[in-house]
Amino acid sequence: MVGQVQARKAAGVILQMIKEGRIAGRGVLLAGQPGTGKTAIAMGMAKALGEETPFAMMAASEIFSLEMSKTEALTQAFRKAIGVRIKEETEIIEGEVVEIEIDRPATGSVSKTGKLTMKTTEMETIYDLGSKMIEALTKQKVQAGDVIAIDKASGKITRLGRSFARSRDYDAMGPTTKFVQCPEGELQKRKEAVHMVTLHEIDVINSRTQGFLALFAGDTGEIRSEVREQIDSKIAEWREEGKADIIPGVLFIDEVHMLDVECFSFLNRALENDLAPILVVATNRGITRIRGTNYKSPHGIPIDLLDRLLIISTQPYTEKELHAILDIRAEEEDVDMTEDAKDLLTKIGAETSLRYAIYLITAASLVATKRKAAAVEVEDIGRAYSLFVDVKRSAQFMMEYQEQFMFNEVPEIEREENGADAAAMEQ
Ligand SMILES: Nc1ncnc2c1ncn2[C@@H]1O[C@H](COP(=O)(O)OP(=O)(O)OP(=O)(O)O)[C@@H](O)[C@H]1O
Ligand SMILES: [Mg+2]
Repeated sequence: MVGQVQARKAAGVILQMIKEGRIAGRGVLLAGQPGTGKTAIAMGMAKALGEETPFAMMAASEIFSLEMSKTEALTQAFRKAIGVRIKEETEIIEGEVVEIEIDRPATGSVSKTGKLTMKTTEMETIYDLGSKMIEALTKQKVQAGDVIAIDKASGKITRLGRSFARSRDYDAMGPTTKFVQCPEGELQKRKEAVHMVTLHEIDVINSRTQGFLALFAGDTGEIRSEVREQIDSKIAEWREEGKADIIPGVLFIDEVHMLDVECFSFLNRALENDLAPILVVATNRGITRIRGTNYKSPHGIPIDLLDRLLIISTQPYTEKELHAILDIRAEEEDVDMTEDAKDLLTKIGAETSLRYAIYLITAASLVATKRKAAAVEVEDIGRAYSLFVDVKRSAQFMMEYQEQFMFNEVPEIEREENGADAAAMEQ
């Protein structure tokens, strides 16, 4: 990212606080003009947090289109942002495959029994195979000389690589073959496995009506509060026994001014819960009406919620920053551009908006391709600029020709004034 130094520093501090687990249950508001990189900063935070910390994101308007109550949608969003790290001891068999013997029955095509010989540096054992294991071994294309791990509970087989001892059998391997040492010690081992899930995933799996398939269908419906209560108390138990850890993640709600009073008061309360993630919200509104009331408030957010939020403001870009951003974008889209064209585009960006300038890159590159030019030049930008109108020109066009449009709502007096303006401009 380019520029926006203040805001990014602030976001960096918040990230640090999240990593140290200091600000669970608090919120951050990203406020600033349209196109100043609020959504981009939030995405950056998500990436910087890494895989371990859950990051749930939603646009506030989504809650109005779901087939569930608004508070249910918000509850689900909150629980998607809380991770549970579950530690589990599993028993595995890990070793190098010495030999796989599958009995081929005289009749019928599927073999049902066989023998698997596995060894470590210290011991060798023969295991009987059932049809399920045979299928799994065939599917993984396990051969003699592979080092594998078998999960005893689930029967899941993982190929760890080929044994170094076999590194001379060139014909049996592709270019991506990984070599590993033959394991030492006992064949059967206890291993600690760590799973990361979110509270929401646990909810879905345990709400019996849909079962875990709902996770894939994405259609979970409402989850009963008894289910959630049971899960919460179970997890509290696990935490005491040291089997599970709670990892508060981040819930990002974009365009937060779209929420209404009910949602805002829900957020107030939810933030005080002891299982709360960090709430990051973004808006480009100034002082405006709070949805569902007649009161006005900064950013369309009630004061009591605002009071719980740390506010990061994003600033409009300077020309230099615009230039740098457009430079990166052009490179990312594989568009070659002359310096003059870039300068013109920067001017356009400053006059109109960053988004419009970014869209012009693609349009101008298409224009350039059409005239079989290698790079985008000033005239291509000019052509794209005349083909696609930005907001200001569109608004002006409508002011001039408003009589010809349907549903015209500009009041009469204003219209006369505008008419006078337009006339003055023409002179
Ligand atoms: N500092 C930056 N560096 C690189 N690209 C940026 C930067 N800031 C914004 N952009 C790009 O500009 C575009 C608009 O940014 P973004 O969507 O984050 O704006 P926003 O603040 O969320 O606007 P809105 O209020 O309209 O939602 C995006 O395509 C983004 O990639
Ligand atoms: Mg945005």
